[in-house]
Amino acid sequence: MQERILVCVAWPYANYLLHVGQVAGAYLPADIFARYQRLIGNEVLMVSGSDCHGTPITVTAEREGIQPRDVVDRYHPKILETWERLGISFDLFTTTLTENHYATVQEVFLRLLERGFLEVGTQDQLYDPEAQRFLPDRYVEGTCPHCAYKEARGDQCDSCGKTLDATDLIDPRSRFSGARPVTRASQHYLLRLPKFQEALGAWLTKQTHWRKNVLNFSLGWIAEGLQDRAITRDISWGVPIPVDEWETKRIYVWFDAVIGYLSATREWAQRSGDPEAWRRYWEDPATKSYYFIGKDNIPFHTIIWPGMLMGYGGLNLPFDVPANQYVNFSAGQKQSKSKGTGTWVLNLLDTYAPDVVRFYLTAIMPESSDSEFREDELIRQNNDVLIGTWGNLANRVITMLNRNFDGAIPETGELAPESEALLAAARAAFEKAGAEYGAVHLRAALNEGLAVAQAANRYLGEREPWKAVKVDRAHAAETLATAVNAINAVKTILHPILPFSTQQLHEDLGLAGLLADNGWRFETLAGGHRVGVARPLYAKLDALTVEVEVAGSPA
Ligand code: MF3
Ligand code: ZN
Repeated sequence: MQERILVCVAWPYANYLLHVGQVAGAYLPADIFARYQRLIGNEVLMVSGSDCHGTPITVTAEREGIQPRDVVDRYHPKILETWERLGISFDLFTTTLTENHYATVQEVFLRLLERGFLEVGTQDQLYDPEAQRFLPDRYVEGTCPHCAYKEARGDQCDSCGKTLDATDLIDPRSRFSGARPVTRASQHYLLRLPKFQEALGAWLTKQTHWRKNVLNFSLGWIAEGLQDRAITRDISWGVPIPVDEWETKRIYVWFDAVIGYLSATREWAQRSGDPEAWRRYWEDPATKSYYFIGKDNIPFHTIIWPGMLMGYGGLNLPFDVPANQYVNFSAGQKQSKSKGTGTWVLNLLDTYAPDVVRFYLTAIMPESSDSEFREDELIRQNNDVLIGTWGNLANRVITMLNRNFDGAIPETGELAPESEALLAAARAAFEKAGAEYGAVHLRAALNEGLAVAQAANRYLGEREPWKAVKVDRAHAAETLATAVNAINAVKTILHPILPFSTQQLHEDLGLAGLLADNGWRFETLAGGHRVGVARPLYAKLDALTVEVEVAGSPA
């Protein structure tokens, strides 16, 4: 039965190039999952966009003496280029600067206001007495009250990942003047989260299919007791507050960004020519929505956004929030000469083919704990695993078919037990890998595909068709006919992870069209089918010879 799947991916701030950690943590997993869902024939919509408001953008703009919009104009195209080159298959990647987004945010705001889930409150905010301005979010830095990290920012601690209020910081300092901020009362709209305390707790308790850490972290927030949260800021860059007398303040960037999932679905519908088409993704309870994010974004997606959705009414809550841990870069390890190659995905793509990057980032995907990116490991795994286990296998078999059987799949009679066993393993891998993809265990899905390749390598090693062909042609014919079908299976199973090279292999196997929608099945190539010429799927890489310090993480 066909399912409908909405794939929501965290909106990256458009103030920097995309970092390898962001891509391994959210965008690549989302893309692999979406491609798998399309491959099994589900109806999939994958949306996100550049997060263009808030202090991450204004701090960058002020530092460089340009307008916030200029920051977006510089980085949004770079983000789009990253998707294009890495093969991240968004149905729509928009921005939070569209008219549609502003209208949707204001509509949600007014509806929550009307329903009593927003109220005006007076809050103590940090204020810079020298620069004479308020210091929301990232305008203030200080020591984290949870982990004592000294460079915590007013919105969040990058060390322990906890969400903060600027007023929580110990020893706060202004990013404008370095001055010690004072507190000053300011009026803001508050989201009355305590009103959802019970409903959110009951809903979360039922999400037993979620990753343990995501569920426990969220339940921990509930157990601490939800607090009212300010959803407006003393700042001039952001979505205007749709209430008279509030012209000098703006809606808080996080309140606007999460609504982006809804506004982007509406924009996609408008562009598709059926403006109502968004409804089936949000109003049909059978639709499953998945949110791909890094762990620092968990509370916004498991508490605040679901609370907003409950307040709005009639829209689907997240079905799953498969948040990832972090990818670390430790200094002093081998990286390529061009400084920072390991850090920015676009730089990485200047050096390595997209499927090589996708393969390595899947292999180190931080699904259950933090992992480490090492460029020397990327090279080793490319050579030893991607090529050694998989690329060479496909190449050898197609080449032997061309050399010895005129490129045609030989007819076979009854198969030997080891041939039957390999085909059975290939067939079974569809179920096993499918279950892993469906549960967003993408490393495991990769390994299920590679396991079939390993089995095929062992099988070839045992039956040595390159020798058999001289003495027992029927034996070699059976081996190659069996192996090519195992390869064809691995091609499909790994397609969500390696879309470019598996498409190439699809063509080299003499198959027409795109390996994309609805192609997830074990398919045997009939005797007589002609394969094409095998082009190498991946290039062998030279080991790194230069030791270079890893460039730092983004600000
Ligand atoms: N821009 C945020 C970040 O990079 C993520 C926003 S996700 C959304 O951490 F849900 F708000 F869209
Ligand atoms: Zn901390």
